[in-house]
Amino acid sequence: MPIIQAANLTKVFTGPDQRDFQALGPVDLQIEAGEFVCIVGPSGCGKSTLLRIIAGLDTPSGGSLTIADHSGGHTPFNAMVFQGDSTFPWLTVHENVAYGLKLRGVGLRERDQVVSRMLQTVGLTGFAEAYPYQLSGGMRQRVALGRALANDPQVLLMDEPFGALDAQNRVLLQEELLNIWDQTGAGGAAKTILFVTHSIDEALVLADRVLVMSTTPGRIKAEIAVPFARPRHPYDLRREPHFGELSYQIWEALRDEVNAARAAEVGEARR
Ligand SMILES: Nc1ncnc2c1ncn2[C@@H]1O[C@H](COP(=O)(O)OP(=O)(O)OP(=O)(O)O)[C@@H](O)[C@H]1O
Ligand SMILES: [Mg+2]
Repeated sequence: MPIIQAANLTKVFTGPDQRDFQALGPVDLQIEAGEFVCIVGPSGCGKSTLLRIIAGLDTPSGGSLTIADHSGGHTPFNAMVFQGDSTFPWLTVHENVAYGLKLRGVGLRERDQVVSRMLQTVGLTGFAEAYPYQLSGGMRQRVALGRALANDPQVLLMDEPFGALDAQNRVLLQEELLNIWDQTGAGGAAKTILFVTHSIDEALVLADRVLVMSTTPGRIKAEIAVPFARPRHPYDLRREPHFGELSYQIWEALRDEVNAARAAEVGEARR
């Protein structure tokens, strides 16, 4: 049974003009436990909305969402890394990473142990007492990743987590995320990751499967399996003969949707 299964999932919002509009769906989706799935789609097509519904932060307007939670209630089913900077500026790095553990009533000693392990995992040992404003953007995203991982969720929902980073930092963090994901797989069941990105290259580097969403209301328009062997290294992968071909295949599926989204935006602006 898939860990996440959506059937006919839709979301209707009330727009600024007080009229209802369908932002998402119908979406049919099946994610298997341990899969790394990337979602690409034009801006505004409902990617964040889909992630928020899966995270339980928003409710669908129609259809069904079935989740196979095998945690026994000991750890949260999912954790989300939000679009943009989602660190808490008033907390230190240590306190940011400990946040979810504290909420769940995990004792101080265990909390400190988990936090130091996480800081090591995301390469921030030595910055425990720093505040987010003292860190670079890449480091802040590491804090957000550490905070999500500290809760040991079965599913990581990542909404354009590296979108604001420069190209070099982005590749470094992709590599780290792949390492972390490989490590979770080595000690038991790999974490399931659902990762939204605007970058086709990033999707190909990370995912087992890339889902391409249509313009509003966002539906799954195409699905591309990514056959590259793991462990992967972001730069080496780009030399694979299939990389360019797959990248073009995804772009072909995306191009019309991006153009349609642009045309709709221009139309809106003229109204
Ligand atoms: N709470 C809300 N109330 C009303 N409309 C909303 C709400 N949240 C999102 N929307 C609208 O739903 C649509 C989808 O938004 P969403 O944030 O899911 O898009 P997205 O695909 O994540 O876009 P981007 O790539 O720019 O992050 C947009 O038109 C947005 O304005
Ligand atoms: Mg979004």
